[in-house]
Amino acid sequence: MERVAVVGGGTMGNGIAQIFAMNGFSVTLIETRQELAEKALSTIEKNLGRMVSKEKISEEEKEATLERIESSTDTASAVKDVDLVIEAVPELYDIKKKVFQTIDENAPEHAIFASNTSSISITKLAECTGRPEQFIGMHFFNPVPVMKLVEVINGLKTDPEITDQIISLSDQLGKVAVPANDSPGFVSNRVLMPMINEAIFCVYEGVAEPEDIDSIMKLGMAHPMGPLRLADFIGLDVCLDILEVLYEGFKDPKYRPCPLLVKMVDAGKLGNKTGEGFFTY
Ligand code: 3HC
Repeated sequence: MERVAVVGGGTMGNGIAQIFAMNGFSVTLIETRQELAEKALSTIEKNLGRMVSKEKISEEEKEATLERIESSTDTASAVKDVDLVIEAVPELYDIKKKVFQTIDENAPEHAIFASNTSSISITKLAECTGRPEQFIGMHFFNPVPVMKLVEVINGLKTDPEITDQIISLSDQLGKVAVPANDSPGFVSNRVLMPMINEAIFCVYEGVAEPEDIDSIMKLGMAHPMGPLRLADFIGLDVCLDILEVLYEGFKDPKYRPCPLLVKMVDAGKLGNKTGEGFFTY
């Protein structure tokens, strides 16, 4: 496996592109508009620059990594000769479906398709393509260059040979692959999002101030970030999308999104990316 396309250059997509390029792969980062592609490339450059200043990589390694990444706004031609496509577009089924249909029509027969979805069914996404056996979930964590985990999710038809390839690929990237079966939110977000949602209910019901809720979880439970700062970091819109997938998927009220989360998303308070969420940035 040598050539990889990453569709989507947002928080997750640019991190994924960065780690593949750092590990010697040729990467094409696909975005919808040129300015978004440029923004993604400049984020990668900034993150590599931080690694140089912390003496984790050399200036030469940074330059070589950047040379291995090109960008494109034309999905059809960008996937023509790739071995693997990783999709990291917004967490909405219809958008992902359209992307996978285009990729399926244009990628070579041997190419593996992976989705970085946080919660949508891999089995359902796989059926948007004519090759569900070559389709898998490869779920990375933010910040991608730092977090060790790749949650690997098999769809109902995923070929075990493809799973083995993705597990050894994760190892090649310096990550630890941990398997989970295809179920709403898989393991990571099924456990994480109810905790975040419950922290938001604590704000909503006036149990404690956001700062104090986070301090309780950091100092008492040794979490590196409190759940509200983490929600801001992930994006409140992404948290809401995932909770809705859990709520719809299980039809269980325990996953109902807190009305305060819905209101904040409606008001465009999405966390770090908009400068305001439970905290200001
Ligand atoms: N690229 C490269 N390195 C980065 C980085 C980036 N984007 N962001 C942070 N780092 C590095 C720093 O350089 C630093 O390295 P060092 O220890 O060698 O000096 C290290 O990470 C720690 O960073 P900082 O010192 O700046 O800050 P913190 O100590 O506060 O750590 C954190 C930041 C790593 C983000 C930490 O707070 C953390 O682990 N938070 C929890 C993150 C988490 O839970 N992520 C999962 C979210 S859920 C998800 O992604 C799934 C999705 O489906 C929702």
